[in-house]
Amino acid sequence: MSDNEEKRLFMDEVIAGLSATPATLPCKYLYDAKGSELFEAICATSDYYVTRADLALHEAHIDEISRRIGPNAHIIEFGSGAGVKTHTLLAGLDHPRAYTPIEISSSALEASVRELEAAFPAIDIRPLQADYTQQIDARFLALDPPANRRIVYFPGSTIGNFERDEAREFLKRMRNIAGHDGALLIGVDLLKPVERLLSAYDDQDNLTARFNLNLLEHIQRVLKADIQIDAFRHEARFNPTLSRVEMHLVATRPTTIDLNGRTFEFDTGQSIHTENSHKYSIDSFRQLAAEAGLDSSQAWTDPQGLFSMHWLESA
Ligand code: AVJ
Repeated sequence: MSDNEEKRLFMDEVIAGLSATPATLPCKYLYDAKGSELFEAICATSDYYVTRADLALHEAHIDEISRRIGPNAHIIEFGSGAGVKTHTLLAGLDHPRAYTPIEISSSALEASVRELEAAFPAIDIRPLQADYTQQIDARFLALDPPANRRIVYFPGSTIGNFERDEAREFLKRMRNIAGHDGALLIGVDLLKPVERLLSAYDDQDNLTARFNLNLLEHIQRVLKADIQIDAFRHEARFNPTLSRVEMHLVATRPTTIDLNGRTFEFDTGQSIHTENSHKYSIDSFRQLAAEAGLDSSQAWTDPQGLFSMHWLESA
């Protein structure tokens, strides 16, 4: 997509979201340069346990994961980000053949590729700068000669951002990319007591609040919207029916957002819903995978039992 097409899509999606009742905004727009930096800072807080638990899981089970994957594999990672977990994974594998990170942010992609190329000169690193929710050109993933198998790697519990139906469809797409003898490694955050979940999404240092509010700054900066950002506050809510943490931006006084000749009004207490993070049990995720035609033959957890990773193969 060209810069202009990207901006057009951004505008269309923001207008559609603000026109909806209740109002929403797509969470992918949280990650401009400042948002990505804030997210990295969130990962270092003690409240946001997710990143540390995911890394601890990798460290605790890398030998078993490596045995499952076997030699000469092609690892395809969706939304590779900063790549600390990837380093642990690649270092633990038996002669991995190739690694394809698929990442929308070119700066994040370049940084992680540079680091991994230096650390693993024997691995063919084939980055793809793309939105992984869009179709991926199969020719780009073909290797000659082919690898033993393809492993689609999606750590971090980003699958949690999808609604259940979307997550199922996304799992099917990953299954198609992995192919018949391939497999999926999917990180899934576990359901736990609400207080623990809410402090992870509303940390003491207010980094998550700044991360959420930065979505409005991003819209203001790129789309030239008129927004009273100080008329909104961050709120993390647990939705027990849908088993998810929701991030909202709640109006603290009556306010308007002016964008592209349109005015969106918000009363005190009205919110813009900006993100979902679904939380699963091992069994509830296994059930979802089954609906996508995948068998979860194994699920690992970190030593504290906070986070899980499923090994999924075509049923
Ligand atoms: C990167 C999508 C896994 O949902 O936990 C962190 C993003 N949002 N704090 C998550 C996020 C608020 C994070 N993921």
